[in-house]
Formats: sequence, structure tokens, C-alpha cells
Amino acid sequence: MCGIVGYIGKHEAAPIILEGLSKLEYRGYDSTGMAIFDGEKIRIKKSAGRLKVLEELTHGGATMPGVAGIGHTRWATHGVPSDVNAHPHYNEEETIAVVHNGIIENYIPLREKLMSKGYKFTSDTDTEVLAHLIDYYYKGNPLEAITKVMHRVQGSYALGIIFAEHPDQIFAVRKDSPLIVGQNEDGCFIASDVPAILKYTRKVYFIENQEVVRLRADHMHFYNVDEEELPKEPVTIDWDADAAEKGGYEHFMLKEMYEQPKTVTDTLMPRIKDNDIVIEELGMSDEEIRAIRKIFIVACGSAYHTGVTAKYIFEGAARIPVEVDVASEFRYRKPILEEGTMVIVISQSGETADTLAALRESQKLGHKVLGIVNVVGSSIAREADNVMYTWAGPEIAVATTKAYSAQLIALYLLAMKFGKVRGTLAEAEFGSMLEDLKRLPGQIERLLANKERIQRFANRYIGAKDVFFIGRGIDYAISMEGSLKLKEISYIHSEAYAAGELKHGTISLIEEGTLVAAVATQDSLFQKTLSNMVEVKARGAFVLAVTNEGNTDIEKAADYCIYLPKTNQWFTNSLAIIPLQLFGYYVAVGKGCDVDKPRNLAKSVTVE
Ligand code: F6R
Repeated sequence: MCGIVGYIGKHEAAPIILEGLSKLEYRGYDSTGMAIFDGEKIRIKKSAGRLKVLEELTHGGATMPGVAGIGHTRWATHGVPSDVNAHPHYNEEETIAVVHNGIIENYIPLREKLMSKGYKFTSDTDTEVLAHLIDYYYKGNPLEAITKVMHRVQGSYALGIIFAEHPDQIFAVRKDSPLIVGQNEDGCFIASDVPAILKYTRKVYFIENQEVVRLRADHMHFYNVDEEELPKEPVTIDWDADAAEKGGYEHFMLKEMYEQPKTVTDTLMPRIKDNDIVIEELGMSDEEIRAIRKIFIVACGSAYHTGVTAKYIFEGAARIPVEVDVASEFRYRKPILEEGTMVIVISQSGETADTLAALRESQKLGHKVLGIVNVVGSSIAREADNVMYTWAGPEIAVATTKAYSAQLIALYLLAMKFGKVRGTLAEAEFGSMLEDLKRLPGQIERLLANKERIQRFANRYIGAKDVFFIGRGIDYAISMEGSLKLKEISYIHSEAYAAGELKHGTISLIEEGTLVAAVATQDSLFQKTLSNMVEVKARGAFVLAVTNEGNTDIEKAADYCIYLPKTNQWFTNSLAIIPLQLFGYYVAVGKGCDVDKPRNLAKSVTVE
């Protein structure tokens, strides 16, 4: 989704903003722009297309002198991607400029009202309403105008705003869209996410909902919507700056796949103590764990897929019924959350609008929510009653890999802990599962080392039209993620099916040469999946099988086999997903796709 960067300080603003925007490219965008105050007036340059177009247009920022400015990468919602719809947007006199991430839900009545007062609109965006509305309320005091606008608009927004009459200030405003500010000795910064300003400062402030920040070159002040000043403590970001760089890899996605052994270790090991699982941040006593009657897991996309996997483990190991729901459905379907229901939301970014709404809906119904979150200080992390962090570090590629793997680990730990406390998981099994967990990082490394073999196989499928992924039980959950990885970055149509469901309609799509990836890691379901493989092979499919070492029987029904090291049946997702991620990645690379920034996608989906 859109990215915002702003700067005011001793240095030229445009190059800093351009560089910051380049660090937000991963969020997904289709146009870019900057507004810089040049000592006389606010100048705007903007354009549809990639950031390099704006860089060329401004000679790397050199043609836009000035020490205060705001910049934007736009992911179109209202109005097509075009030069005109790109941000920033001006008021008519060109004395106020605004960049926006989010959606103004009541922009139509506001636009009509402003038009009736003589305001003229040049774009199709909801954002332009903000520029004119600020102008409407502006009587010389920017803070007053901004807070009046905040009272009038509905929806979500993170804003950067500059006023020609106040060139020594820039403003940041936020409601339900991410925005942070930071400071160093040379200036102050606004950004949608930490990587944009990490080069300049590690001291950042998280802006809460409905807060405004006035930034000057040497200090910042925070206000609530009633213009009252707020105290605020900075947070020191302790990431390794290289974590947000490619570090010699061709793509962030490849680098992040290779970081999975470390991610798994970092999420796992601090929570294993004296052969037990200790999740201090869970905030639940053993008695409360024993009292759980049902678990609701709510998330989107890949995070949802980890929830589907976890259902089998919570039900199998802890004997707790689990319902897994897509957050955009959960929030509107009047879910029944009875007493004893625990709600878990899962999110890498911690900013996914639907997941955040599901969290709030659950809290409104009187239920505590546990967030499994990667981004420290994100909205979900701050609003959840308890937070279990996945220590994956910054994930830049749009397609998730390492955060997905870390989410799985967090869920395994929870399910095992619950099973042990509730007495449904025998001591010996718990112990052997712990040993299996500790072996996962090394096993993932072994699978990654096999990447050339997967690459050779993937090269044969760059021309594929349709690919099907099938599996039963946890293997179905793996199939869903394998299918999503392939389609989102290679643009090849693919679908995941519960293997037994295929013959209820979809099998008619199988023709000579159609690739079917069959995942068969669950011993109790192996023969069943094998039969489904035989069925598709008999209809001409080319069958790729992913199974455990030793299951050589599969070669009767498969054309190509990938064997996984042995692990507990509930942890096979952590291994099976590795070749499937590599497969999706290499198909996309072979097709020449923009792997880290697939078309139409955004890393952090902050609108519903
Ligand atoms: C797919 C992918 C998305 C996200 C989904 C949820 O590779 O990354 O499907 O999993 O948008 O995002 P978070 O986890 O940030 O809530």
C-alpha cells in the first residue's frame, strides 16, 4: 500500500525523500511524487510508474531544492494510476500539499460540499478532498485546520502535509494507517515504515490513532485531536541496518527464504527452557489455558494458511476445537464468540486492515486477543491484549516466506504448550516433538541447499497455464500456501484442492501435461493421496510429489519427487513449504517477473 516519507532539517529534502521512498517500494505502488518547499513556494513533481521515473524527472532530487518536503508512492484505490491521480495533491492556490495512505470513506459528500463552495477538483482521488478541506478550515493555524479535518473525515489515513505559509514545519497525522516519525541531530523524518529512515535514525516514535505531529528541523510536538500536547517516548530500533538490504542476493525473496533457518531458531529457541515451552508474553495462567473451550484464528492470505495448519495441531495435540477464518469475512459475519473462546490473530505487518478490524470486533465482544505479529510496535501489536512476536526481522519481498515460517513455529509452540498443560499431549511425545522442533532449522537448510534441482524443474514450467496443488489434512494447508506463492509472483493460474475434493468437479480441467503438485507428508493419509495422484496421472497430469524420505512407493504415481527429512507429522509444513517456495520463485524468475514487487500487490494491506 502507499508509502509516505517526509523530511525537514539541515539537508536537501528531495534526495532523502527519494531514498526513503526506495526503501518503501516493497509496499507496492503504481505512481510516485514529491512536494518540496523551495523558499518561495511548494513545488510538486509526480508521475505514474516506478520511482526511477521520478528520480529522472528531478535528476535525483537536484531540480527540487529545499529543506522541507513530503513524498509518496501510491497504490491506486480511487482513480487509475496516472500522473494526475499521483500524490501529492494541492489546494487551488498551491499553498498546501498533502500525501495520503488510506481511504477517505465519506469523500463523496465532502467533495460535493466543497464543490458547492466553489472548490475545483482535478483528480479522481479521495485524497484531493483532504487538500481542499484543509484549505477550507485553514485560517492561519495549521494544527487547528488539521484537527477540524480529522473531525470531519471518516476512514483511514496516514498523512504528510506542508503549508507554504509555515515552511519551517511539516505535519504527520494518523488514523488506522501506519506512520512513524523519527529524529536525528540534523532533522526530523516521517515514514510509513522503519526501513525508510533507518539510515538516518534509530530513534522513532509511533504515532497513535488520531494524533498529529508537528515536525520542525530540531524538534517535534505531538497533539491529540483537541490540539492538546501529548508526551511521547521514543523507541530505539535495534535492527541490523543490513537486515533491510539485499546483501548480495538477487532478490529480497531469495534472501528471506535463506533466512528461514535463522528465523525459525530466533522464534523458537528463546521460548524453550529446561525442556519446556515458556511463553511469557502469553499472559495466561495454566488454569486459563485449561478453561479454553474453543479457539478462533483470524488472519489473511499466508497468515491465514498458517492458521489452517495450526487447526490440525491444536485439535490433535490440545483437543481444542478451532475455527479458522479469513479476517475480511470474520469481521462482517457476526461471529459467535462464546465464553471460553480464545481469539488469535496472525499478521506479519501488524497493519492488515481486516485483521485489525477482527481484533477490535473480538475485543468489543468482550474477548481477549492474542496477536502473533512480526512488526514490533505495529497497530495489531499495540492493540492486542497479548503479543507473541515472530522474530523474523524486516520482511521486504511482497510474497512472505520467512515470516510465514516464523508464524508456524509460534503456533506449534502454543499448541504444544496447551496440549501439555491440558494433559492431552503425553510427556514423552512432548519431549520428542521438542527435539523435532530443534532439528527444523538444519533440515530447512538442507532443503534450501537443493535449490538448483528445483530451479531446473521450475524452468520446465515457465510456460504453464494452470497448476494444481493437492493434499489432505495439513498437506492441504501446505498446498494452499504453495499455490499462493506460485500465482502471486509468477502470474500463473493455480489452485489448491483438498485431494479428495478434486474429483467433484475440478478434475475436468486436468489435461495432457497439466502440472499437479501433490503433497503427501501425513502417514495416515498417504495411501489416500496416492490414489488421488493416480487419478490425475491417468488423465494426463504430470505429477510432482512432495513427501517424506522413505516413501518411495510414491514413485509409482509421481513423475518427479522431492523428499523431505523426517519430522513430526504436525511440523511437515515447515519443510514441505521450502521446495514449493523455491518452485514459485524460480518459475517467476524464469518468466522475468518482478519477483519482489508483483503487479497489483501490496506488502501491507492497510485498506479493506
Ligand atoms: C502472500 C502474503 C499475503 C499476506 C497477507 C497478510 O505472500 O504475503 O497473503 O500473508 O496479506 O498480511 P499480514 O501477515 O501482514 O497481515
